[in-house]
Amino acid sequence: MSASRLVLNDPQAQRFEINRAALVDPAIFAAEKERIFERCWLYVGHESEVRAPGDFCTRSVCGRPLILCRDSENALRVFLNTCRHRGTVECREVSGNSQRYTCFYHGWTYDRDGRLYAVPGQSAYPPNFDRAKLGLMEPPRVEHYRGFVFLNFDANAAPLQEYLGRATEYIDLVLDQSRSGRMEVIQGTQEYDIRANWKLLVENSFDDYHLLTTHATWLDYLKNSGVEVKRPEKGHVLPSHGLGKDLGSGHGTTDNVNFRGRPVAAWIPIYGEEAKPELARIRQELEQRLGEARAKRVADTNRNLLIFPNLVLLDGSSVSVRSFQPLGPDRMRVRAWALGPVEETPLARQVRLDSFLTFYGPGGFATPDDIAALEAVQEGLGTYKEVQWSPLTRGIAKEGEQLNTDEAHLRAFWVQWAKLMGA
Ligand code: FES
Ligand SMILES: [Fe+2]
Repeated sequence: MSASRLVLNDPQAQRFEINRAALVDPAIFAAEKERIFERCWLYVGHESEVRAPGDFCTRSVCGRPLILCRDSENALRVFLNTCRHRGTVECREVSGNSQRYTCFYHGWTYDRDGRLYAVPGQSAYPPNFDRAKLGLMEPPRVEHYRGFVFLNFDANAAPLQEYLGRATEYIDLVLDQSRSGRMEVIQGTQEYDIRANWKLLVENSFDDYHLLTTHATWLDYLKNSGVEVKRPEKGHVLPSHGLGKDLGSGHGTTDNVNFRGRPVAAWIPIYGEEAKPELARIRQELEQRLGEARAKRVADTNRNLLIFPNLVLLDGSSVSVRSFQPLGPDRMRVRAWALGPVEETPLARQVRLDSFLTFYGPGGFATPDDIAALEAVQEGLGTYKEVQWSPLTRGIAKEGEQLNTDEAHLRAFWVQWAKLMGA
């Protein structure tokens, strides 16, 4: 089946269906790599992960091993992590600080600006051997927005900020938590694989419809800890109001009234009495700096923001940065980091990290349940030739506002996916 016909979108008839082959078929997976991952802006990392000249960390993005680092002038750089001799991964450490990178195969050595610095026995090469032309290479495009570093394998792609479009409004909302406007990745990376198609995690990351069922144990825990979890109003699934928003170009977000506490000035009993004055102080600072309305927006609402195709900012009971790399049609590698204001006090930082681990951690209330759900979906999709279509129509008959438990923002992702796949 042609890739562009995998999403059946007929608004007049109020039909929207996904052909399940999109989540299973290896040919579609191969096309996705080319049409989506080699054309879109992809998240590499955060500027705070490398701070001083020579700092580096390594990771793979779309199958390319990369070095994210600071050069001798302390500029942020991204190198393709492959030796120019025979291709060996040049830097094999996860992170560190180094003057030079030496290939462990034959010993070619590059400096931190990427120049080929030394070649053992260079005199055996012919006169046309030019070290200046054999430095570490860089992806065609690297740009950042407010500390978040992205790359694009398409040299002709539109600039990053244009690509992000209306999603910047929500990134800014996250950054406004910080007095200095600067956030940092808190040390440590969560890394795990899921036996499921990467698009299932896209959906799951901002699908609030599953919260009440998949995360029932967490809601019970909140209730038992003295957090007020109201009965949902008629027609709703969740105890508080929330919206789902299509931000254009496949980006989307939930935009929810918070009920579950936030390290940004929304105290709940789980944080402990001693954290109460600290959160009140943060609140006061927010109001002074941003005015009452914006402070309310920052502190009393939360959001799960998808940056198409594979970056999610979860600004809820903590801030998580989550990106995921497809490894095959039914497998992905997830990396997640906690993000916090650089000037945060130790007490506020502790509340943030506790929240991060309680909900999003690999042993938290959310992640194991979500992984179990996604792997169960992928297993169920083994029937994709017999059971071909999934409806994605919650909220489709409604004019105007779409709820967080509707599927309009999920549809927006799929519309963009189909557009790029058909191109
Ligand atoms: S492959 Fe790196 S030195 Fe030979
Ligand atoms: Fe979930």
